Amino acid sequence: MIENTWPDSVKCSVKNLKMFVIMKFFLKHLLTISSRLSKSVIPSLSVWDGHFSCRWRSTGGHGRQKYFNDRLPKFRFALAGLLAGTGAVLAYKLHQDKVQLAATSAQLRVTQTSDLPVYTLEEVTKHRSLDSGVWVTYKGGVYDITEFVAIHPGGDKILLAAGGALEPYWALYAVHQQDHVLEILSEYKIGVLNPESYKKQESANPSDPYSAEPTRHPALQINSLKPFNAEPPASILSDNYITPSVIFFKRNHLPVPRVDPEAYRLEIEGLSGGVVSLSLSELKSRFPKHTITATLQCAGNRRSEMNKVKQVKGLNWGIAAISNATWSGARLRDVLLYYGFGPEVAAKAKHVQFEGLDKDVTGTAYGASIPLNKAVSEEGDVLLAYEMNGEDLPPDHGYPVRVVVPGVVGARNVKWLGKIVVSDEESKSHWQQNDYKGFSPGTDWDTVDFKSAPAIQELPIQSAITHPAEGTSVDRSDREVTVKGYAWSGGGREVVRVDVSVDGGKTWHVAKLRTSDQGQHPAPPPPPGRAWAWKLWEIDVPIPHRAQELEIVCKAVDSGYNMQPDTVAPIWNLRGVLSNAWHRVKVKVSEGFKDQK
Ligand code: MTE
Repeated sequence: MIENTWPDSVKCSVKNLKMFVIMKFFLKHLLTISSRLSKSVIPSLSVWDGHFSCRWRSTGGHGRQKYFNDRLPKFRFALAGLLAGTGAVLAYKLHQDKVQLAATSAQLRVTQTSDLPVYTLEEVTKHRSLDSGVWVTYKGGVYDITEFVAIHPGGDKILLAAGGALEPYWALYAVHQQDHVLEILSEYKIGVLNPESYKKQESANPSDPYSAEPTRHPALQINSLKPFNAEPPASILSDNYITPSVIFFKRNHLPVPRVDPEAYRLEIEGLSGGVVSLSLSELKSRFPKHTITATLQCAGNRRSEMNKVKQVKGLNWGIAAISNATWSGARLRDVLLYYGFGPEVAAKAKHVQFEGLDKDVTGTAYGASIPLNKAVSEEGDVLLAYEMNGEDLPPDHGYPVRVVVPGVVGARNVKWLGKIVVSDEESKSHWQQNDYKGFSPGTDWDTVDFKSAPAIQELPIQSAITHPAEGTSVDRSDREVTVKGYAWSGGGREVVRVDVSVDGGKTWHVAKLRTSDQGQHPAPPPPPGRAWAWKLWEIDVPIPHRAQELEIVCKAVDSGYNMQPDTVAPIWNLRGVLSNAWHRVKVKVSEGFKDQK
């Protein structure tokens, strides 16, 4: 919707500007190469490196630009060779440098503001395209970001704010709430809004897209507020076999959409009878209600341990981006069969795509897909869930309908479900194509090719210690230390054993597993291949004589005899996903008094 308001001329100009920047980039590299050959030719070159956009707009830049233009013919042949021989490499490097540039620009001097011109809102509004210049405002400042558009790490989306305030758009992407982003912006400051305009703008600004977020439990440990991402404290995670919904980990990429259950429609495409539009009451009444207990785990669970090996990109999740709930709803299989899924569709389709109702500023929805087999198999237990723990889904967990794909990474369990597409292709969504994939520890952001790796579906075997906590003490006079935790495996593989060591892995003890809360009947054993829920485990291990410190370790084994790797480094990957090495917790052994920590 918003996208269509941009005329073709703007889109075309964006392309042209990008070409312009690419050319500038090539030339910059030529200059860099030549400076290495002869440092004396271009003495100021090292200052330029990585800062070309600032260079071209600074007052001293014109002189340098002239210098540059004067010498352009000398580089003509080299340029031709460069374009022919290494164009692809440099084009890729350009992409990397755009990102780097944003970071390095932060070190640049902050522009003085005292004697800057004063503008009205009307004047700012005239600068909404690359032809007229792209101006934006932020907290009363006016910024000409024309040259920044092509190097904006978030792409052309920045143009949505052209001629107006940045605040409503930045509010959608928490990444902007950082000092270095403000420093980059300050480089482009050209003036200030007059007080009347500022006041007018303040009152007219669309409200914060996160202003209607649900109330959250105060115990949650927040990893990011907008969008909201939080996990329960590890110490209470394994207190309940079924995690209470209020402390179930929450992983949102965008604002929580508020959906009117009366107006809600679920669209289904790709079946033989054409597009289906289903209301919530039809979903509830037309199909049998099916209930499963299933654990959801975020691909980034335990990412913080990878960060200790080497920094990765992503939220710094601890061990509690995993929780267990009962889910009720219609089976996806039943719904698809009812609306015309049959051999004809099965012959062509390979995937089932899901789209959420949560959208970014461009109107792009969260999306993911799963293999068709999982979606339609009787044993797959994929649900269009409308209840969690016996109640309507809470807003944070996808009200009114979400997909629950048991055994599969959290990312494919699409919340606020708006659309299902049965297709021969995977979802085109960023989160299916360019995220939630695993890579070698040797792959970095310069070499990664997201197309080369499959999207994560089933997760590997996992376990972690929830008690005792790292850095606490155990009392030697207790003679034993009680160790507790969780274990789970993807793909319906049942956890069959958890081994615990208190001496860093030299000797091992087998923990007791449970599938219900203390004092309650254990759940009946799951059918083979359909163990969707975690197991909690516990063990009392003797404190070794003379030990001053215990290194408590756990590792789980699933029904396929898959085991966790012993260390993090060999499974480290640039996005910090699939972190499932043995979990290690160090505690002190204290003599004769209990540590209250
Ligand atoms: N669905 C939508 N529509 N939007 C999202 O941001 N996040 C995904 C998935 N489904 C997400 C979504 C991710 S990455 C995870 S781990 C799970 O939801 C988290 O589900 P939860 O918040 O109910 O724990």
